[in-house]
Amino acid sequence: MSNRICLSSPHMGDEEKKYLEQTLASNWIAPVGPNIDQFESEIAKLVGVSHVLAVSSGTAAIHLALMLLNVQQGDSVFCQSFTFVASANPILYLGANPVFIDSETDTWNMDPILLKAALEDACRKNSLPKAIIIVHAFGMPAKMAELTAITEEYGVPILEDAAEAIGSKIGEHYCGAFGQYGVFSFNGNKIITTSGGGTLLSNNGISIQRARFLASQAKEAAPHYQHSQIGYNYGLSNLLAGIGLGQLTVLEDRIHARRSNYERYRAVFEKYNAMGYQFQFQEEPSGHFSNRWLTCLLIDPEKNLGLSSQAIRLAFEKENIETRPLWKPLHQQPIFENCISYTNGVSDLLFEQGICLPSGSNLNNEAFNRIINCFDAILEQNAQCGTVAI
Ligand SMILES: Cc1ncc(COP(=O)(O)O)c(C=O)c1O
Repeated sequence: MSNRICLSSPHMGDEEKKYLEQTLASNWIAPVGPNIDQFESEIAKLVGVSHVLAVSSGTAAIHLALMLLNVQQGDSVFCQSFTFVASANPILYLGANPVFIDSETDTWNMDPILLKAALEDACRKNSLPKAIIIVHAFGMPAKMAELTAITEEYGVPILEDAAEAIGSKIGEHYCGAFGQYGVFSFNGNKIITTSGGGTLLSNNGISIQRARFLASQAKEAAPHYQHSQIGYNYGLSNLLAGIGLGQLTVLEDRIHARRSNYERYRAVFEKYNAMGYQFQFQEEPSGHFSNRWLTCLLIDPEKNLGLSSQAIRLAFEKENIETRPLWKPLHQQPIFENCISYTNGVSDLLFEQGICLPSGSNLNNEAFNRIINCFDAILEQNAQCGTVAI
């Protein structure tokens, strides 16, 4: 069996080892240290925010942001439905109630029309949400101008889940810096990684100072251990921040490689489309710049000789090539079955018809050719049988 081609695997550069060796030599093996300080200030400079806190995961950063926004038991928090579960789990940690908002078809992110309808309803019922979590799915920036205008009308803050979108921007404005709070993830599958880690971003220094306090066990200033509130152990290790510093030196290259993957897939699929297929990609609206974390394809069986994303995924799996369905919308997840949602069918369709293709920045020519050969074989078989045998 050939080597497995993964969806998105870690891709180290030349500097990470140097940072790790220096850190081991200096013995800063702790959740404090110079790498953390530098990592925070480099992220702040990159994105254009004044304050950053490095934490152990993107999920932790979302949890902290919701606490800073004073989300409490029984409050409601609006959240994009088309996302990974970690966008919404922290709402449950706080005993609050998620309300899910569906996507629009251009960016696949939160639909401004549905958001407005949901806010109007909430306002009528005198139950405005404490926050709105907007996601940039697969690195594609959401329609921030429209979404921000609506949230400002109602005075509800935005928590921007930019876990997948480091380096993505609209014009010159970086994702992660649009909302009152922004979050990045440095999980192993992300465009750059610290193996596990995240950052919380804001222009509010006092809030980030409070987040730092909460993330380090809410330890008060005293010679002994003094605690008056619940704290969390959410700090990032100084060792892992060293990996992050190494990874930041290659971020631009990694984005370039991911965008090149997309362009290569697109060129191949345009050839298929010229043969009569109608494969669709996640388009980049004018002015939007996506880091193209994952290249995603939509396959409508009715327009593609009965070929489905599920059949393609299984055929790829037989060749040891990893693909994944797009996010199953959270309003369809059993854990959220009792939550209110505002839907329009868009994320349901994305889930039904979508597939994420291998998109690592370390995808070499040989791997890419294997993927395309596999696709050629699927299409040939499909053309012969009318459907792919699985
Ligand atoms: C959209 C989204 N939000 C939140 C997270 C959570 O980040 P982490 O895995 O670092 O906790 C992830 C990724 O894992 C994600 O893709």
